[in-house]
Amino acid sequence: MQKHEAARLLQWALPRLGFRYRGFRNVRGQVQKRIERRMAAIGIEHSEEYRRYLEGHPEEWTVVEAMCRISITRFYRDRDVWERLAQKLLPQLSARAPARAISAWSAGCAAGEEAYTLAIVARLSAEPPVAIDVLGTDIDAHQLARARAARYPPGSLRELPKPLRDRAMFEDRGELAIRAPCRAGVQFLEHDLRRDPPPDRFDLVLCRYLAFTYFDRAWQERIASTLAAAIAEGGVLILGKHEHLPTTATGFEPLGPHLPIYGRTPVA
Ligand SMILES: C[S@@+](CC[C@H](N)C(=O)[O-])C[C@H]1O[C@@H](n2cnc3c(N)ncnc32)[C@H](O)[C@@H]1O
Repeated sequence: MQKHEAARLLQWALPRLGFRYRGFRNVRGQVQKRIERRMAAIGIEHSEEYRRYLEGHPEEWTVVEAMCRISITRFYRDRDVWERLAQKLLPQLSARAPARAISAWSAGCAAGEEAYTLAIVARLSAEPPVAIDVLGTDIDAHQLARARAARYPPGSLRELPKPLRDRAMFEDRGELAIRAPCRAGVQFLEHDLRRDPPPDRFDLVLCRYLAFTYFDRAWQERIASTLAAAIAEGGVLILGKHEHLPTTATGFEPLGPHLPIYGRTPVA
């Protein structure tokens, strides 16, 4: 399939799935390859033919939706956010609830890199260390199985500062495994952010490089409400570096000019 054919197919298909075409600009090649493999598997050669196939086979849309899941991630992605969490936000959240561990949700956690980064930062970077329970959720059961195994190729740890990596991980047969104390309190659950209610109420939610990159405006507005319901008053929401909440979102105030961090405002 030529690039322009893939672009035309995606411009037609993505909005039908509640996705935003522009959000996929850096990952279009990856989605194109998956679609080409799928077309080959069902004996289709041209993108137009695949479009007609989709029109006649509604069940195929589930396959397309799965092909549009992007699982790019890494430990310590967006370093300034983790530094801010360690130096300020985690100690503040913990001071609000000194008698218990703070609760956090990594929504769209892929293979757990973000959820474990949070546990590592709370335990090893925050001053004083902060007790935390982290729930990582994702729609993709395969990613969650990898998350529970807690073993990673060295490449996914490139951005994690070496002192943290040395204390949090050990080498095992060419991979890096997370030490037990940094796995404690971290759990994973299958969850569809678009269809399921929030799994609990949290002090801190990270929803990065998912809804506010790939979902269309209407879905972003719905997810903003879901997140407002999921975060306790005074809690914190963190998005990806270039993401922001839709202007219609209520219940949040920006906590800093340069980072995508929002405070959950008191409920009126
Ligand atoms: C690009 S990764 C982001 C991982 C991590 N949050 C980060 O910022 O590095 C997006 C993840 O969202 C998951 N995902 C896609 N659609 C979802 C949905 N409707 N509900 C929950 N997770 C979803 C994908 O399976 C993928 O693992």
